[in-house]
Order: sequence, then structure tokens, then C-alpha cells
Amino acid sequence: MKNKLIYLSVAMVFAVFTSCKNEVSTDSGSVEPKVYEGKEISSEFDAEIDKLIAQMTIEEKIGMLHGNSMFTSGGVKRLGIPELKMADGPLGVREEISRDSWAPAGLDNDFATYYPAGGGLAATWNADLAYTFGNSVGQELRARDKDMLLSPAINIIRTPLGGRTYEYLTEDPFLNKKIAVPLIVGLQDNDVMACVKHFAANNQETNRDFVDVQIDERTLREIYLPAFEAAVKEAKAYSIMGAYNKFRGEYLCENDYMLNKVLRDEWGFKGVVVSDWAAVHTTVKTLKNGLDIEMGTPKPFNEFFLADKLIAAAKAGEISETEINKHVKRILRVLFQVKAMGGKDRAKGSIATEAHYQDAYKIASESVVLLKNDNNALPLKLDGVKSIAVIGNNATKKNALGGFGAGVKTKREVTPLEGLKNRLPGSIKINYAEGYLERYDEKNKGKLGDITLNGPVTIDQLDPTKLQEAIDAAKKSDVVIIFAGSNRDYETEASDRRNLKLPFGQEELIKKVIAVNPKTIVVMIAGAPFDIQDLSKKTSALVWSWFNGSEGGNALADVLLGKINPSGKLPWTMPKSINDSPAHATNSFPGGTSVNYSEGILVGYRWFDTKKIEPLYPFGYGLSYTTFAFDNAKTDKKEYAAEETIAVSVTVKNTGKVEGKEVVQLYSSKSDSKITRADKELKGFQKVMVKAGASETVTIKVPVKELAYYDVKTKKWIVEPGNYTLKLGSSSRDIKKEVVVTIK
Ligand code: BGC
Repeated sequence: MKNKLIYLSVAMVFAVFTSCKNEVSTDSGSVEPKVYEGKEISSEFDAEIDKLIAQMTIEEKIGMLHGNSMFTSGGVKRLGIPELKMADGPLGVREEISRDSWAPAGLDNDFATYYPAGGGLAATWNADLAYTFGNSVGQELRARDKDMLLSPAINIIRTPLGGRTYEYLTEDPFLNKKIAVPLIVGLQDNDVMACVKHFAANNQETNRDFVDVQIDERTLREIYLPAFEAAVKEAKAYSIMGAYNKFRGEYLCENDYMLNKVLRDEWGFKGVVVSDWAAVHTTVKTLKNGLDIEMGTPKPFNEFFLADKLIAAAKAGEISETEINKHVKRILRVLFQVKAMGGKDRAKGSIATEAHYQDAYKIASESVVLLKNDNNALPLKLDGVKSIAVIGNNATKKNALGGFGAGVKTKREVTPLEGLKNRLPGSIKINYAEGYLERYDEKNKGKLGDITLNGPVTIDQLDPTKLQEAIDAAKKSDVVIIFAGSNRDYETEASDRRNLKLPFGQEELIKKVIAVNPKTIVVMIAGAPFDIQDLSKKTSALVWSWFNGSEGGNALADVLLGKINPSGKLPWTMPKSINDSPAHATNSFPGGTSVNYSEGILVGYRWFDTKKIEPLYPFGYGLSYTTFAFDNAKTDKKEYAAEETIAVSVTVKNTGKVEGKEVVQLYSSKSDSKITRADKELKGFQKVMVKAGASETVTIKVPVKELAYYDVKTKKWIVEPGNYTLKLGSSSRDIKKEVVVTIK
């Protein structure tokens, strides 16, 4: 009876959700992905812009090409040109920073919504939620009267150890672009600019200030650039951030190949290129090679490379005024585009509203990944349960701020413990124990990258009193939930992790708790893979959550209690061992002054599948409280020409007792290819809601050009003719149906 009630409430929640319909239903009743496309930068104001430029002094022009405060570049007051106002970042609009230092400005009107970090958003595999994310944060940006959000961060996750794994989206270029594009479109729909970062090949934090990344051209085009290319061509992103590192010998903020040739000449980018903070190294070269605005950390702003030095270079004739005008014009165009100029009504926005918290909730609730659920341990059945032990520092840890890098100052961050308190009936007693202590090496605190070093007390040491409290709580409770994982001090920008080990002695703690109470559910809160192989054997239920935003704790509690049926899927591979991962198996991480991506195109699951290495949990994996069967997979035709689109349809039947969402994933394989190819590559996906016992038909459209490889000799995308197997599955390793098509 109680179960029935839980199922009923599941149905009610889903009924509410489906009223804001995510998918496009076609006449034939089939569900298809929506297409997102941004608005091109208009040339409507060009004459006015030219007139303005004609009135500007060289000093005024150059004033627009560099930071004049921490997060603004200069305007020209007498001509009505405002400063260009920026804000971090990927987790929501960062609090106001002082004009000339990193110290918070101390405002009381800059509390914002904290949105789920990149990994969580990508784990939804829901492009419509990516639009919601962008649109919601865009409104907050306007409410803060800013022009540009330094987001999204879309570098490929090359190694699980990468410090920004939590902030980036995925290891797969297709999922990457399908989340990035709607996010950018949603954001820019609010009269603001996205600043897509970090262009490009910024896939590690170790030596990021100077490491020279070597990637072969095909890999660059097929793995590391597609999301940036789609951000420019489809989402029409108004700005791009140049990365810190070098690429093929040149810093990315002065990289002629990447900024002029690829970004502008090939992709037709019309917006502005902004440097990462203090990523500029030269004056004339930087400007000529494509950067528009230099931003940075505190030193007198006139000492920036694109400040006094550029004025001197212009006066010495080392750079022409025409060249300078070109950059100024780009900036003016985007200012007009977002209505910071031109007198048009501009979106006003709103911030930290209940509606925005609910946007964060929706994203979080679709991001949680159910990794293991033996004997239906979840959702928690509360019949007869009088007490629950909640164990772990992560039950109360907040992650809106932390570590090095952009966070959000928020009035609402519901922790896992608070979420449970909000959602559990008052009659159930919660016995909380912290269990483990966060331990950082004090002597290295503040020294980026070294916080995880072993100090006099190792970071893995459990505190005996804390351990005993946890064991006592577990013993006296009917059920145990351990909130483990990491946090944003441990996973941080500017530092890669040293290994996949769970820090702070958590593994020992969890094993000891399971020994006294086998009814233990382990919930990981982390943004990147950890070695949980042993734990996954010991626990009957394993859940993965993320740095999951203002409503993360409520969403998690709703998943654990069955109000939300989990539908998150891993956006990266969870390896059994770090040495199984491509960058490590090929011994090509982190390199020294230079790093060569020697695994080539075999990044993430492409490596694991091609080399037949079994991961702990594969890319695209995630369970549900129900089960799905795929049937009747077919394509609209058998043969296609290069410019055609393949429509692949499949019926998804919910074979369980509760409604739920499944992500249909479509991978392509070409086993007889003349070139090296990955065993399979993601080419389409669609999340679909299916009622218990019902079926839905999903149609995924694959433009034949998605099957192309990049041919280095001709510098063209080529679709190899012949047969391709299209594999439909619920993860990269759980392929349920296959259809073969022929490309002419
Ligand atoms: C980061 C960027 C960020 C910038 C400004 C840099 O350290 O790499 O992602 O937008 O700082 O805070």
C-alpha cells in the first residue's frame, strides 16, 4: 500500500513536469529533439558604429581593448559607449568582485541562484533543460546589469583527474555540443553574451599557464573543436574566451591558426575574443592574431599588454589604426547586439527567484545517476522505518563556493541532510554523524594544486571519535545513507587530482559502517570519477549526485524517496583504474612543458570500447526505478546520399511499474572503415518520458554529415560510403537494437 502511495506521488510529480513539455511531439505521435539556433550578430548599426569610431582618439579605442577593472573593459563616456560588464561563470552569476582586486565587493544585492555544475547538467542528457539553464541564468545576469557571462565551459574531459572536470560537461563531442548550444541560445535570448570557454585544448590544469598542447589535426577537429564550432555556427555565441595554454607552440590568446584561421575564416565568427584572466603575453602579435579584449588580474590596468604598450606600438607604426578599428568595431557590434547600446528596450531580468530555484531543481532532479540498485533497495521504503542514520561530511557540505574558481553567493543551498529533513515525515528520526573530516595539507593551503598532499596527518586519516559516532549512528538506525565523494575544495580549478582515490578515509569509513549495518545506501557527491570499484561491490545501492545547485539536496531526497524516478546518465566513463583511461594508458598526461595527446581520437569510451577495456560504469550509463525495452527500430530509408538526413525511430516500452524517463542513445559504427575509427561514436540521443506499461516512439534525426571523419589531406569532412551500423542503447555498453544503413 505504502509503495503504491509512493508510486502515486511519482505520477503526480511527473504530471506536473510533463505539463511544461520538453519534447516536440510530431503528428505521428513520435518524440523528436528540438532544434536550437541562435541569432546572428546584426550589421544594422554598422554605419553608426563607423561614425563613433571616427570620433574616437587612439587612447579611447585602446581603452576598449583591455580590462579597466577586474570584470569590465573600457567604454567611452563622452560618446555614450558603456563599459562591457562581465561576470563569471558556469555555476551561476558570481558575486560582485571589487573593481581592482579579487576581494568581494560586499554588496547585498548579488545573491544568486546556484545552478548545477557542468557534470550535472550534462548528466541530464536533456537539451531542453540546457536551454532552461541558459535562459534562467541569463535572466539573473541581466538583473545584475551585466553584458557577458563567462560561461559555458565546454572543454572535453580528457582525463578523469582534470581539476575542472566538475565544471566541464563531458568526454564526448556530440553530447558536448548538444548541451552547449541550447544553453548558449537560452542565455543569449536575454540580451546578453555567452563567453564560451576555454578556446581551446584546455584539458588539464597542470602547467596550464604554459603547457604546449600537441593534438593531431583529425583529433582536434573530431574531438576537441566540435562543441566550439557548434557554439559559433549554430548557437551564434557572441564571445569566446582564449585559453591559458599554448597550442602547437603558440599561446591560445595569440594563436593565429586557432583565432584567425579556424574561428574567424573557417567558422565565420563575428563576435569578440576575450582572453582568460592574465593569459596574454604580447602586444602586437596578440592583436594581429585575433584577440579583441585582454582581461586579467590586478596589476595597473594601463600596464596590460593591450593598454599603454599598444598605444606606444600604434604610435610607433607597429600596428595600423585600421587593425585597431577592426577590434573596436567587433566590440561595438556585440554591445549593440545585446542592446547595451542603441536605445532599444533591453531585458531586465530577475534574480534568485523561486522560479529560478525551481529551474535548478528540475535540472538537478534529472541529473542524479542511479549506479546500482540490488533488490530494489531504492527508492527507500519507509514502512516500519523509525530511524535513518545520515553519515558523512558531504551530508552538510555546501559547494556553491569553494576551491579556486568561480562560484556563486547564494541564499539557498539545500544540503543532502536538509533535503531529507524537508522530505521525510517528522516521525522518522535522523541520526546524523559527520563520519570523516576534510583534511588538507595546512602548509600547502593556498598553494594551488598541492592541497591534497599528505601532511603530518595524512588526508586519509579518520578521526577515531568521528568514526565511532558514525558506527554508533549506523547501529542504532534502521537504514543508513552515507553521503561521500568530494567537494569543491578538493576538485578545483588550477589543480588536477593526483589519483582517483576517495579522500579523507571515506572508503574505510563506508566499509566499517556497512559491516555494522548492511542496509546502507551510498550516495556520491562529486563532479569527477573516483575509484569506487570496491565500494560498488559492497553496497547494494549506489547513487551519483553532483555539485548540484541551490536545490540539489531536495532533488536528491526526492530521488532517494521515489518522488523522482532517476534518469541521469553518466556523461563520462567511470574507469576501474586510472591506468585504463586513455591519457594515462598512453602515458601522455600531464606532460611537462609540452603534452602530446597520443591517444588521438580515442578519448573516453571511444578508447575503452575500441581497446575492449571494461569500465566500472560506462559512458551513458544510469539505472531507473523502472525498466525499458526497445523495439521496432527502423530507419525511414535504407540508402542515403551525403546531404540527406537519416530518421531513426525506435519504440521505447516501459516494462516496469512506475513511469520514468529513458535516454535513447544512438551510436554509429563502421567496422569495415578504411581509416582508424572508434568502435562506436554517439550521433544522437533523446530523453523520453514513458508511463508504466506504455510505449513511446522516439525519432532521432542523424544528418549523414554527422558520420563524416576529418580528412587531414584534403582538409575536408568526408563521409565514407558503405554500410554503417546504427546502434540504439541505454548506455554505450547496453546496445539494445541495431539498424544497418547504406551511404551512397
Ligand atoms: C578561469 C576562467 C574565469 C576567469 C575569471 C580564470 O582563472 O580560467 O574560467 O572565467 O578566471 O574569473
